[in-house]
Order: sequence, then C-alpha cells, then structure tokens
Amino acid sequence: MAPETPGSESRETQETLSNLLNETRRFAPPAELAASANVTAEAYEEAARDRLAFWDKQADRLTWSKRWDTTLEWNAPFAKWFVGGELNVAYNCVDRHVEAGHGDKVAYHWEGEPEGDSRTITYADLQREVAKTANALQELGVGKGDRVAVYLPMIPELPITMLACARIGAIHSVVFGGFSATALSGRIKDADAKVVVTADGGYRRGAPSALKPTVDEAVKECPGIEHVVVVRRTGQEVAQTDKDIWWHDLVERQPETHEAQPHDAEHPLYILYTSGTTGRPKGILHTTGGYLTQTAYTHYSVFDLKPETDVYWCTADIGWVTGHSYIVYGPLANGATSVIYEGTPDTPHRGRFWEVVQKYGVTILYTAPTAIRTFMKWGDDIPAKFDMSSLRVLGSVGEPINPEAYVWYREHIGGNRTPVVDTWWQTETGAIMISPLPGVTSAKPGAAMRPLPGITADVVDDQGNSVGNGGGGYLAIRDPWPSMLRTIWGDDQRYIDTYWSRFEGMYFAGDGAKRDDDGDIWLLGRVDDVMLVSGHNISTTEVESALVSHPKVAEAAVVGATDPVTGQAIVSFVILRGSVEESDDIAAELRNHVARTLGPIAKPRQILVVPELPKTRSGKIMRRLLRDVAENRSIGDVTTLADSTVMNLISEKLPSAK
Ligand code: WT7
Repeated sequence: MAPETPGSESRETQETLSNLLNETRRFAPPAELAASANVTAEAYEEAARDRLAFWDKQADRLTWSKRWDTTLEWNAPFAKWFVGGELNVAYNCVDRHVEAGHGDKVAYHWEGEPEGDSRTITYADLQREVAKTANALQELGVGKGDRVAVYLPMIPELPITMLACARIGAIHSVVFGGFSATALSGRIKDADAKVVVTADGGYRRGAPSALKPTVDEAVKECPGIEHVVVVRRTGQEVAQTDKDIWWHDLVERQPETHEAQPHDAEHPLYILYTSGTTGRPKGILHTTGGYLTQTAYTHYSVFDLKPETDVYWCTADIGWVTGHSYIVYGPLANGATSVIYEGTPDTPHRGRFWEVVQKYGVTILYTAPTAIRTFMKWGDDIPAKFDMSSLRVLGSVGEPINPEAYVWYREHIGGNRTPVVDTWWQTETGAIMISPLPGVTSAKPGAAMRPLPGITADVVDDQGNSVGNGGGGYLAIRDPWPSMLRTIWGDDQRYIDTYWSRFEGMYFAGDGAKRDDDGDIWLLGRVDDVMLVSGHNISTTEVESALVSHPKVAEAAVVGATDPVTGQAIVSFVILRGSVEESDDIAAELRNHVARTLGPIAKPRQILVVPELPKTRSGKIMRRLLRDVAENRSIGDVTTLADSTVMNLISEKLPSAK
C-alpha cells in the first residue's frame, strides 16, 4: 500500500504530528566554545548572500595546481564544480602538511583490536607509505582512471591504499570487509576493477577473522582482476593463487618518493556502493575538487576542528562513506590528528571505547546512535570508570538519534559539557548537509536542525512545495552542492530516476522530515519506514524514541505490519535494559507509555521483548526482517545481517509474546 502523502494530511494527522514534536529541551553552545568557534552565525548569511562565492572561499582551503575558471556548471542533474581547476587529493591530504613543517605531527593514532597493538603514523610516515604504495600500484600497471577494489580491515594500509589511488588518479572502490564473496564479486564486476587490495584477515571480537578466502572465491568470478595484493595482518594461512602478491614483497621495495600529478577537479575519486532496499547496489561516484572542498569544510565547521590541539576520533568503518569522508579525506585535508580503531567496542571489555578516549585524550568523538544505544544498555557505570574530560564535541550520524540517546550521550560521555551535533547526510551527498554548528546552534535533542551554510535543504510535500514551519513531508535539496554524487557508475539513467525524478528540479533524499515551528528540521527515517495507521502517517523513529524514553527500554525497533482494520499496525520489538526482569505486564506498560507520549494513535498493537535486533553491518536495523516476523511470514534474505543468528533468537521468542 502506498503511504499517505504528507501533502494530503488531515487536520487530525497534523495534530498528531505536533504531538510527536513535544521535545522542548535545548542545549546552547558552551560560552567558551562559542567564543573561539571556527564558524559563527555570520557564515549562514555570507552563504545566503552568494552561495557560489561562499564555496569558492571554502575551495581555497585546498591547494590547487591550477585555479578553476567556473565555480559551478549545472546541466541539471549533472554538476561540475570548480571547472578547469586541477589538484591532487593525496598532495592536499598529506604532502602539503609535511611541506608546511608538520611532518612530525601525528596523522593517525592507530589502535589495533589486540591490546597493546598500536602504531603512530605521522604525516611524514604517511607521505612515505603513500608514495611507496602509489609506486607499487603503478608497477602493477594501474593507471589513471583504472579501478582498484579494496577489501581490507581497519588497518593503516586501508587509508594508505585509498590515498595512493587518489595520488595516481586511480578510482578506488572500497568494499566493507564484512561483505560476502557474492557482494564483493558483484562490486568488482560492476566497476570492472583490475586489482584487489586485501589482507589475510583482520581482528574481530578478539579473534582473527579471515578475509582472503572470500577474495579468492570472489576473484574466481572476476576474470578482469589481474592482481591481488595481500597485506599480512593476522598471519593466518592463506591459499596462494597466481594473481597474488604480498604487500610487503611489493610495497617495501618501492622508492619512498612519488611525484604527484594534478588531476582535473572533476576527475573521479572513488566509487562506493550503497545497498538500497531493493535491486542491484548503486555505485555512487564521487569526484575530486568539490568532494574534498566540502568534506574539509564540514569537518572544520561541524566539529570545530582545531588541528593544533584536537584529537579526533570517528568510530565508523572506513568501508562506509562516514569513514571515507571523516576518517580519511576531511580530517587529512585539514591536517588533523585522528584515532583509527580496528575492532569492536566490547573487545576485550565493554569499556574499550572509553579507554581509547582516555589513552589518546580524544577531544572530538563521532559515532552512531546504534552504538550509543548499546552503550546505554551496557550501563552508565562503564563510561564512568574512565577519564573523558578531554572530550569537547560529540557527533552522531547514521540514523535519527532518539532524544533519550542524545541526552544520555551528552551526559554520560560528554559530561554535560559537550555539544552534540546530529549530522544528517548520505553516501550520495558525500559530506554533512544538515547539522547544528557547535559554537552557534542551540541544539534540540533528536533534531539535525538546519542545513549548513551553502546548502539549501527543504521539507516539501508530495507536489514538491515547501511545507513551511510545523509541516511534515519529504527532505529535498534544492541546489547542487560540491560533494554531491555525480552519477551512479555506468548508469546515468538510474541516477536521474532515483534522485531527480520524484520532484521537479530537486534532489530527493528518500527521507521523511518535519520542520518544527522554529523552522528546524527533524529527520524521520527513510520514507519506506513511515507507517500508515488508520490513515495516519507515523514514523517508526518517533515510536522508537518514545519506547527508548521509557526507563526499562534499552533499544527498540518498530515496523508497520499489515492489519485488516487499520491498514498497518504498529509492532514493536524491544530490548530491555540489563537489570530489568521481563514481566507479564511489561507489554501493557510500554503500550500505555507510547500512548501517553505520542497519543493513542501511536499505541503499538504488539510489543515483543527480544534479546537482540537484526542489524546490517553498518548498524541499520533491518525492519524488512522484522516485518516478516510481524506479518507471520517466513523470514527473508538474512545475508546482509551482521549476525545471522539474531533472527533465530527473535523467532524463539515469538510464541510467548503473542
Ligand atoms: C541515510 C543515508 C551518512 C553516513 C552514514 C549513512 C540516514 C544518516 C542521519 C541523521 C537521521 C540519518 C538517512 C539517510 N541518516 N544520518 N543524522 N539523522 N537520519 O549513510 O548508508 O548512505 O545512509 O542514513 O536515512 O538517508 P548511508
């Protein structure tokens, strides 16, 4: 059934919507941070006066070999930014910092999962390693425009390989190390890559986990692959094929310098596949000048980065766009010192993250709501054991953050001092688009607030008209932005159809959103996560947030299940907090709590207490599988689950919950 369109809401629904937005807490920027913030409110006005001049100024943060002639060439929906300009991304991320006298500065504090296994990589080290790797790739015959698949764990060779590709103008396609052989071969074939860079394995939850067998299986299906470069990380036995070459045999003997050539501002930098709910994965294509401009600017403005003093840690995997933009390109372009952590948050104990914060004196932390909810579930006493007084800015990304999780994060991780920036963006947008600015915005827990300076986002109804304050609809972006995807690799038509056809002349993000009475934007999850209950549009996120605001609930996932009476009915899956005993009346208690919080229309038909929720490896809840459970179907494809046994645990719970 097609969801009710936001533009045709009844008055009744509008009333429900305003009930759903009853969050009134505000967190103003700390005075000290505001006084010395990188970006002030003036930036919004400056960008509003002349958006392109604003982006020209941000592009000037980079070092160009040749300055651009035209800021934007917009042949809708195909954009070219900084036309005629030339630069080298690796030079901008590495060499220029060394040339400026910062060679001894730490680029990465790399922390392996096995305790005590760490490496410090300075900008001078990085320059040497990138140069050697660039030489190595060229020796293998990789040239400008060739595609290189990268299937590595979170080890230094991953950013080094990406930068080496960027340096020689090869296009990297990083495939997350948790993906299957089928997923890997599909991506290799779609991009027609000629080399794969991988490792014997990586560490995961305290044990080596093999990668090479997956690559061997994938490469069998990919005749276009000429070489497989293998990093020795775990020392696991690996089968050798005639395409294999060890990283240490190839890279270590290379010259330590490499002359970087400038590339066109629109030269492709990388392809990154997004799964999408259905259909083949889409190869999102990002290019050089605009991408680096916006990742650098947003990393500087949204996190208030002070490269001299900050220690920045983004906990994402580099295999996702968050890692591309905010572990590799943005931070390095800004000359930041970052932490890279290889492992999981619970290895060898549940305080590992906070131990890392304490060890390196992390000042800026960027993580995801799913992680935050997990930490809440593990208990307040764990972070309390560590000294985290160095933290000054916290970030969130990946899904809407429930207000309760936001407040917990601020309080238990940020010591009630730190602003929390809830950053909305996508693989496709390349960089942060909507977010508070930590020195400017009085942030509301759960709201991404306003488009950043230079970005024109809006909430529109079904016809593409602005809904205005107090209205709900779809998130759309009105003007092209520097780090936008340029197309879907090899499929311009799909690019047009997916993003630029829903609304005339606007980019359709696929997210539901609301504008509150102050004009601030609240993201409501993917449009396909919007439920239609008795003709009312209810977002799964809002019901989840209501459930998580109950003291007994650690985590919640909500789906709309077909219902003969109401069209869709709300079915909730909840994980209780550690110390809470499951009792018979817990379901009734939670149903009433939601009804009280959001109004009776949002009262779940059913509450199922479960031990775990099904999540993808990037931490997104797979509501599709929960919908199968809720609608009594056999459970669909579980291959993209991080842990495929979770669905068995949930199914076992079913009879008792009915
Ligand atoms: C989708 C994009 C951006 C890097 C990680 C995910 C959701 C992301 C937020 C946020 C509400 C968010 C959206 C978006 N999303 N950040 N702060 N608030 N929703 O990248 O895998 O391309 O997913 O993630 O639904 O469309 P992605």
